[in-house]
Amino acid sequence: MDIDPFDLERFFARFEADADIMLAESGIRALPASEFDTDPGELGYVIPTAGDPAFRETLGERYGRGGDEVLCTCGAQEANFVAFAALMGEHAVTVTPTYQSLYSVPDAFGEVTTVDLQPPEWDLDVEAVKAALRPETAVLVVNNPNNPTGKYLDESTVRALYEMAADNGTYLLCDEVYRLLDPDPIPPVASMGEYGVSTSSVTKSHGLAGCRFGWLAGPREVTEAAATWKDYTTISPSTFGQHVARQAIDREDEILARNRELAAENRQRVAAFLDEHGLDWYEPAGVDGFVTVPDGFATGRSFCESLVRTQSVVLAPGDAFGVPDRFRIGFGLPTDRLEKGLDRVDEFLAHHA
Ligand SMILES: Cc1ncc(COP(=O)(O)O)c(C=O)c1O
Repeated sequence: MDIDPFDLERFFARFEADADIMLAESGIRALPASEFDTDPGELGYVIPTAGDPAFRETLGERYGRGGDEVLCTCGAQEANFVAFAALMGEHAVTVTPTYQSLYSVPDAFGEVTTVDLQPPEWDLDVEAVKAALRPETAVLVVNNPNNPTGKYLDESTVRALYEMAADNGTYLLCDEVYRLLDPDPIPPVASMGEYGVSTSSVTKSHGLAGCRFGWLAGPREVTEAAATWKDYTTISPSTFGQHVARQAIDREDEILARNRELAAENRQRVAAFLDEHGLDWYEPAGVDGFVTVPDGFATGRSFCESLVRTQSVVLAPGDAFGVPDRFRIGFGLPTDRLEKGLDRVDEFLAHHA
């Protein structure tokens, strides 16, 4: 079994540690640990290892599911991994461009057909998805809201995908890590019926990546099969992570209100900046936008590499998502940092005009 290198992580590994400003982080800025009680008591495993039963009940409520239909994991990354390990047969269909795990992991287990969102609005041709499904397709995969484009497919499109998948005996897995950054989120896929599986975490919308706490919600046969794999990956979620994640979910309304306000304010600032510089994007949900490459640069990668070398600002090259003529900007950081970063991009572009 082979897995492709994770292109975006390899790009970050070359530049992120030494750069002054990270304008490519995909989630909202991190909250300080001082906002939470950080003493979980004894530092054993989380028992039961699927996650605290009362907390799983609480998380299950957002999907209309019981606690045994929720499996707590180390981040959405592990939730996706164990979901694919549990679900994959011969074939998956993934809507792209998207976060690489959502096609490279199923590709390690079987075959993946990709169906592209269409620029400039990143619309999804639902009929193209239908044409890609095969009798043996085990899972249809979508990330909604989408990283890197910021496209948020509407409820009727997602329900059409669900019906199509269910009619084919295929699970619809939706990575919903950005869902709660939207002020008006659509219902999660795991609430849509027996073929619906949602993955999420407190990383992107709540600003708690360091908790390494996520979950998978769906039918019990899926959470149980995924738990079988999790016994071989991390055993249990992090005890610290679960302790803080519980408090964050208790205070979710207040945390999300703050984070949505920051996202809206920063989105406006980036939109104005792009306008000034003749660059284009689809105005995104969440805190990631996928921007056209400035004149004078052959690809998003040549632009990003030149920028980080001269201005110490990291943006993400579009080819890490299979789209070489774009770059991704992450604008979830504190507004003063965002402005410093944009000032440096401005200086850089002035020298290359
Ligand atoms: C769509 C998507 N899913 C999952 C992850 C990983 O999330 P976590 O930190 O919860 O493992 C990311 C991180 O960038 C992401 O963009």
